[in-house]
Amino acid sequence: MMKRIPEPFRIKMVEPIKMTTLADREVALAEAGLNPFLLRSDDVYIDLLTDSGTGAMSDNQWAGLMLGDESYAGSRNYYNLCNAVEHFFGYKLTVPAHQGRGAEQILFPALIERMRQVRGGTTPVFISNYHFDTTAGHIELNGGKAINVVDERAFDTSMAYDWKGNFDLDRLVQTIEEHGANNICAIITTITCNSSGGQPVSMANMRAVYEIATKNDIPVVIDSARYCENAYFIKQREDGYQDKSILDIIREMYQYGDMLTMSAKKDPMVNIGGLCCIRDHEELFQAVRTLCVPMEGFVTYGGMAGRDMEALARGLYEAADENFLHYRISQVAYLGERLREGGVPIQYPTGGHAVFVDAAKILPHIPPEQFPAQVLTNALYLEAGIRAVEIGSLLLGRDPETGEQKKADLELMRLTIPRRVYTNDHMDYIADAIIELQNRAHELKGLTFEYEPPVLRHFTARFKAL
Ligand code: F0G
Repeated sequence: MMKRIPEPFRIKMVEPIKMTTLADREVALAEAGLNPFLLRSDDVYIDLLTDSGTGAMSDNQWAGLMLGDESYAGSRNYYNLCNAVEHFFGYKLTVPAHQGRGAEQILFPALIERMRQVRGGTTPVFISNYHFDTTAGHIELNGGKAINVVDERAFDTSMAYDWKGNFDLDRLVQTIEEHGANNICAIITTITCNSSGGQPVSMANMRAVYEIATKNDIPVVIDSARYCENAYFIKQREDGYQDKSILDIIREMYQYGDMLTMSAKKDPMVNIGGLCCIRDHEELFQAVRTLCVPMEGFVTYGGMAGRDMEALARGLYEAADENFLHYRISQVAYLGERLREGGVPIQYPTGGHAVFVDAAKILPHIPPEQFPAQVLTNALYLEAGIRAVEIGSLLLGRDPETGEQKKADLELMRLTIPRRVYTNDHMDYIADAIIELQNRAHELKGLTFEYEPPVLRHFTARFKAL
């Protein structure tokens, strides 16, 4: 059995969670239309819906809240944040945002405008290893096209490969040629790659992407929700990085980008916050700031309170602590190993922030249009009060032209582990429940819509069992 790494913190304050019975959960799930997104969190015992904004802040971050400077303009906490950004990433220009998608909505229109004005393009295209949903959403809302070129090995969950977040470099080059370099607004390097299972991108791949981008005069944006976890994987797995500090690895990663967007709700462990930072391009910085004012707020707070910027500035330091990362990645890997030992198929190796269970393999009798990963997620809630999330055909949606349900490459149930919130005993409880559930998976039945919203349907859809 894999070694358990003890928590590098002690518990100073506790939040009681309600224990429920099977009968309670049956009522709650029926009221939620068989959609865990519609459950009240009070009816959930262990909440693995997301690692976003659900982390526990440290005593040092909480202390920072008391030092919030709530001046409308020029808050000292903004300058602390800028200093932390420059220290880790080497980027001089910082615009705060209320969360990751806030950063996306002020950066992407500016990049599209630049592609038209400066580079003479006409049809905006973005290329990424894999665009997160809101990232693709903001590109499409602005009339652009989002193309993913992740390494194909990412789609074989049982194949052990260290870098399932990597770009397929040949497809990257082909895609640039096909659409014309002047139409490519940016290449987005997502670290870690959430959509392929919290999988890392190697330093060699980041470097190669940047070389290709530079040769074609295309800017590189680093989508940075889980950049410290990515740095830790590089230290563990990539030749030449074993003796480097996490700080040095982060600094090198950010040399292979020109700007970053960040959902600070993940690695830096704040409950709300985001960033858009630019290495040194003043003109683009001004364009982003111009959009920031009407969309997010004045340029030195961008939707964040002064106290929240302080907690984030401190969180950037804590996120890069190697002892913390060792524990963090090991906790998630431990859950993955327990499941594998119990015969549960997962995306392997286990990712940084979550274990992705391969529901298509557990429920071969349920076709994609009956949403096997949603079926498994519901059954897990009933079994143990654990709320996971479907990442599969339900999330993917219908083909906008034909109206047909698209079939996802993978039907996954994501067990997303919040940072510093659950103990290793909770991990054992989760593993035991899923192993137990797998033994009677053949009894589970598919789902169909009772109510299907026209867009972003997974959040508010209601279902009935077939
Ligand atoms: N980029 C990545 C890679 C993400 O995982 C997310 C959010 C965002 C951008 C958007 O950031 O939520 O702060 O606006 N991912 C969350 C998740 C929601 O559950 O994986 P946001």
